[in-house]
Amino acid sequence: MKTFFSSLLTALLFLGTSAFVTSCTPGGGKKKSAATEAAPVGELQPLPTSIGTKDSYSRVDTSLPFVALTFDDGPHPKNTPRLLDILKERNVKATFYVVAPNVKRYPEIMRRIIAEGHEIGNHTVTHGNLTKMSEAAVKREFTETHDAIVAATGVAPRTMRPPYGAITTAQKAWIRRDLGYPTILWSVDPEDWKKPGSSVVTSRLVSGASPGGILLVHDIHASSIDAIPAAVDQLLARGYQFVTVTQLIAMDGKG
Ligand code: NI
Repeated sequence: MKTFFSSLLTALLFLGTSAFVTSCTPGGGKKKSAATEAAPVGELQPLPTSIGTKDSYSRVDTSLPFVALTFDDGPHPKNTPRLLDILKERNVKATFYVVAPNVKRYPEIMRRIIAEGHEIGNHTVTHGNLTKMSEAAVKREFTETHDAIVAATGVAPRTMRPPYGAITTAQKAWIRRDLGYPTILWSVDPEDWKKPGSSVVTSRLVSGASPGGILLVHDIHASSIDAIPAAVDQLLARGYQFVTVTQLIAMDGKG
């Protein structure tokens, strides 16, 4: 019996694989991505289907006390693991907008981010100003980063953030249509990258937060990470709960 069932299983797996290959290669012209070689599981991830109804979010419409904490430009070999420890101690989930070179350099940190229940978003390869790039160049920025994230983690990002928040209305529309990504901006910018001191960053995050807010921080700076324990503790004390960006978007317009 065991043999019969394992043969059946093998047959089913074979059929499943064939069906997948057939359905996924209609033109046959799709370039094989790095993801398909490095992480077979990544191949089973669908392209991101659009979430939410808008091309862009800098906050979400809700009266409920939910906010999304987002960290840009990493992962960083020291600061990101320290941040993950801080978040884990408090059972707080965040969203990480990563750049492809760091994804490739630190795949194990990428896997830790996913394993601990956080979310990953696309933050391009070169961290350039998208408004000054051709459509083909912008597409390359996002698809290369998408593939690197899937290769490292097996999980496809669902949202993107343009470097510096620089993006045109037309770009937001075609990126959502062609790549499936809504543009994620922010409602609170503590300007942590200017290193104003961790207590200043903490108080800007806490005073800036409101229901449906998206908080911007950079996990490549040690001083930014220093601001997080107090910011999270104070927001929790005020009744806020932390959700990922896609969870927050799911609450848009729902009370
Ligand atoms: Ni950035």
